[in-house]
Amino acid sequence: MTVSTFLSAINAELSKEAKVLSDPDTNGFKAAHERWTDRDLKTPSAIVIVATEDDIVKTVQLALKHDIPFVPKSGGHSAWSTIGQEGIIIDLSNYNKVKIDKSTKTVTIQSGIVNKQLIGALYEHNLFLPLGGGNTIGSVPQALGGGLCALSKQCGNTSDNVLSARLVTATGELITVDSNRSDLLWALKGAGQYFGLVTELTL
Ligand SMILES: Cc1cc2nc3c(=O)[nH]c(=O)nc-3n(C[C@H](O)[C@H](O)[C@H](O)COP(=O)(O)OP(=O)(O)OC[C@H]3O[C@@H](n4cnc5c(N)ncnc54)[C@H](O)[C@@H]3O)c2cc1C
Ligand SMILES: *[C@@H]1O[C@H](CO)[C@@H](O)[C@H](O)[C@H]1NC(C)=O
Ligand SMILES: *[C@@H]1O[C@H](CO)[C@@H](O)[C@H](O)[C@H]1NC(C)=O
Repeated sequence: MTVSTFLSAINAELSKEAKVLSDPDTNGFKAAHERWTDRDLKTPSAIVIVATEDDIVKTVQLALKHDIPFVPKSGGHSAWSTIGQEGIIIDLSNYNKVKIDKSTKTVTIQSGIVNKQLIGALYEHNLFLPLGGGNTIGSVPQALGGGLCALSKQCGNTSDNVLSARLVTATGELITVDSNRSDLLWALKGAGQYFGLVTELTL
């Protein structure tokens, strides 16, 4: 299957708020394509800017069905995560809500949130998490990769604070993982970028 077959099918699957950018000459594409470094940056056939969890699931399922490789993008700090014309980027940056539960002192974050937004939202409720100082780093990828910061000695690394996760697996299934899947939850806390596309984390 070609990327163009994928592209002609994807719009019908997505919410009204989602966007599919496939013309690299437009300002919208250029802005979405930006990341922390331009080193080795390739240009994908399309950038799918998702707005809902369902958008993420549908995009992954359709990409799997058409055999289109993809990389998720949150805060865009990886120097290695890039893809050329054979594939697409799933851009999570508009999927960025924070839900705080004050009674349990937990927070559920969507995977496009960046550290500055999350730290600010927690601060409003007199809460905090050990998060790195880079304002625009994606909090979910940071937690999935470990997450070191000035508070790590007191409060653990970001990953130590992960209680549960929702992710789309390599077969396109949306699952919720907590202590009932302790093997996968453990794997997500440090090697989490390899086990699926994480839609949400609760910390
Ligand atoms: C300038 C700079 C400062 C940094 N400072 C710190 C620091 O103080 N502490 C610290 O711990 N780390 C730090 N890091 C490392 C940073 O936390 C990681 O690189 C992190 O993975 C970046 O996440 P991102 O969302 O910004 O990047 P992205 O490039 O968007 O994502 C990073 C990787 O995760 C994948 N990914 C994105 N979203 C998902 C998802 N939802 N599910 C699964 N995989 C996903 C991407 O494909 C990519 O491979 C720093 C990095 C830089 C460049
Ligand atoms: C945080 O990660 C570092 C580096 O991997 C590790 O040495 C340290 O033990 C971790 N801290 C905690 C509290 O787990
Ligand atoms: C694991 O827990 C989640 C959230 O509590 C739940 O949605 C899911 O069904 C549970 N899975 C199993 C296999 O029990």
